[in-house]
Amino acid sequence: MSNNLLKGKRGIIFGALNDQSIAWKVAERAVEEGATITLSNTPMAIRMGEVNALAEKLNCQVVPADATSVEDLTNVFKTSMDILGGQIDFVLHSIGMSPNVRKKRTYDDLDYGMLDKTLDISAVSFHKMIQSAKKLNAIAEYGSIVALSYVAAQRTFYGYNDMADAKALLESIARSFGYIYGREHSVRVNTISQSPTFTTAGSGVKGMDKLYDFANRMSPLGNATADECADYCIVMFSDLTRKVTMQNLFHDGGFSSVGMSLRAMATYEKGLDEYMDENGNIIYG
Ligand SMILES: NC(=O)c1ccc[n+]([C@@H]2O[C@H](COP(=O)([O-])OP(=O)(O)OC[C@H]3O[C@@H](n4cnc5c(N)ncnc54)[C@H](O)[C@@H]3O)[C@@H](O)[C@H]2O)c1
Repeated sequence: MSNNLLKGKRGIIFGALNDQSIAWKVAERAVEEGATITLSNTPMAIRMGEVNALAEKLNCQVVPADATSVEDLTNVFKTSMDILGGQIDFVLHSIGMSPNVRKKRTYDDLDYGMLDKTLDISAVSFHKMIQSAKKLNAIAEYGSIVALSYVAAQRTFYGYNDMADAKALLESIARSFGYIYGREHSVRVNTISQSPTFTTAGSGVKGMDKLYDFANRMSPLGNATADECADYCIVMFSDLTRKVTMQNLFHDGGFSSVGMSLRAMATYEKGLDEYMDENGNIIYG
């Protein structure tokens, strides 16, 4: 259902890979709410993923960029302003990747070259994005820049590995740049800390199915879905949140404030074995 919350607004959505991607849902919702947008992802993701199909569906253009390249990012903002016909009102950074996680290097055996890449792709790219936009004066007054984060920035989740450090840096960049961009151009910068979600990036996390189940039992409202995350992003892009900036906003069904839930305690008491099949997979029910 559309409430025209983004009527007349121009946006850039980074990170839609396939129809599981959170960015994919955000792009669909943004257009439904009246925005015109461009999409961006790496040339490889555009070739291997389904971004072009989304662009066709939403009648928008794709501007390729490796988010670690300032030159590429500058081109995305310039080209998007040309295509959309003016300054940009909202930006979604929905980008994350850890070579250490991919190569199954544990946190006490990190490859530091790979750590550099994790931090560059998943966090410093957010700074590069905002700095490129600011230098071009590409974001309109009260424009809204949002990146997606995870609670492992604050608390330890073993399998999340060096992505936890990347998310802590990402959230810090939102605060540091949010101050400068807010003071100088009234531009808002926030992160949304989302529940575990089954996507290509999410499925790379060690023990994701068990983590998902645990978070679901711990959260009074249950895990937030990708569609629900898209709804929250729309509100953050809209004029209804003009004074919200420099925040990390939890969108997790309450998970981050719970110590132990009744449901999780009941499961713990019975013993997890009862909930697993012979292969150690969680049985849902
Ligand atoms: N899935 C979850 O459980 C979950 C939970 C909380 C936060 N998040 C965050 O949400 C965001 C989106 O992830 P997702 O779960 O939708 O998975 P996804 O795999 O669909 O999206 C990740 C995107 O990052 C892009 N990407 C990787 N390297 C890039 C680079 N160098 N330049 C530009 N783009 C690059 C990929 O092409 C892909 O489109 C990530 O920041 C992720 O950490 C995910």
